Amino acid sequence: MINGTGAKIIGTGHALPEKVLTNADLEKIVDTTDSWIVERTGIRERHVAEAGTPVSEFATEAARQALEQAGVEAKEVDLIIVGTVTGDMKFPATACLVQAKLEAKNAVAFDLSAACSGFLYSLQVASALMRTNSYRRVLVIGAEVLTSMINWQDRDTCILFGDGAGAALLAPAEGQTGLIHSRLGSDGRQTDLLYNPGGGSLHPANLEPVAPDFPTIRMEGREVFRHAVTAMTKVLKQVLEEAEVSAEEINLLIPHQANLRIIEAVGKRFGIDKEKVYVNVDRFGNTSAASIPIALDEGRRSGRIKEGDLVAMVTFGAGLTWAAALHKF
Ligand code: UT7
Repeated sequence: MINGTGAKIIGTGHALPEKVLTNADLEKIVDTTDSWIVERTGIRERHVAEAGTPVSEFATEAARQALEQAGVEAKEVDLIIVGTVTGDMKFPATACLVQAKLEAKNAVAFDLSAACSGFLYSLQVASALMRTNSYRRVLVIGAEVLTSMINWQDRDTCILFGDGAGAALLAPAEGQTGLIHSRLGSDGRQTDLLYNPGGGSLHPANLEPVAPDFPTIRMEGREVFRHAVTAMTKVLKQVLEEAEVSAEEINLLIPHQANLRIIEAVGKRFGIDKEKVYVNVDRFGNTSAASIPIALDEGRRSGRIKEGDLVAMVTFGAGLTWAAALHKF
């Protein structure tokens, strides 16, 4: 195994809205069925925020839990990165709002936009900044209220997404632990497969008329599915090879929770037992940047991830973007 990047996760947390939207609830809104959704996606229910709830609320709660678990005070935090595409506002950065709520007055704070890859992108950026800028306590948060950009009349997309946040607190690693290796990838030629055109400088929100369905998610589901399996397989293979780690050595694989069929296809390509592949898409749907840190926290709190375990994480999202990381706890 290669030398690590010098950053280790020492605390995790996650937060979800209370309200649960089941497939049966969706049957009343759009032309769909519970059996179609379960068969094609594995999703049974998802947590959805009340309209107008800021994503910083979930991000802050997840971060508080991570700090508490590690016994670290907010004022010790040097850096906060929030991976999100559903920030409270266009600006300032949601990370600054989280910083204020936490009273983490000594932190530098910024957001990172990489859609569903937001958490793993932020993790790599954080570990690089820890090396170059000597940051010692870093909060990496993936947080989304994706339902704020859903067209509830579009059955192709509205059944897929849920809201929530997950956080990881990083500290300098000791010995052969922590973030061992990670790789990121992007392909800007494929932006039209998954995007939200509304409210940016291309279609400014201050110009009328704006169609009611304009600021919502557009997706070519089948194409995204195909690219997801290919890119996740490729980047995970690269990370394993470069780190000189075999798939059998992985104690737990945490894939981005977009679709159970994508998760199973990736696990199968590496010959990883189903029991070693983390799944919570059935309960939370696709929470974008939040999906991996939510799973990480659930895994650590339930004892599924133990000290000494090697955890592989792999993701894929709009951009297109993708990433994989290996972390030894
Ligand atoms: O984080 C990355 C974000 N996105 C993703 O990861 C999404 C990746 N893609 C997917 O997960 C899948 O492509 C979907 C779940 C979105 C769709 O599943 P699919 O097996 O690719 O279905 P499809 O789009 O090929 O549609 C099959 C049929 C179509 O009907 P016809 O044309 O065969 O008559 C759709 O109109 O299913 C229909 N359909 C639905 N039926 C009931 C599409 N959505 C629904 C629905 N309920 N909600």
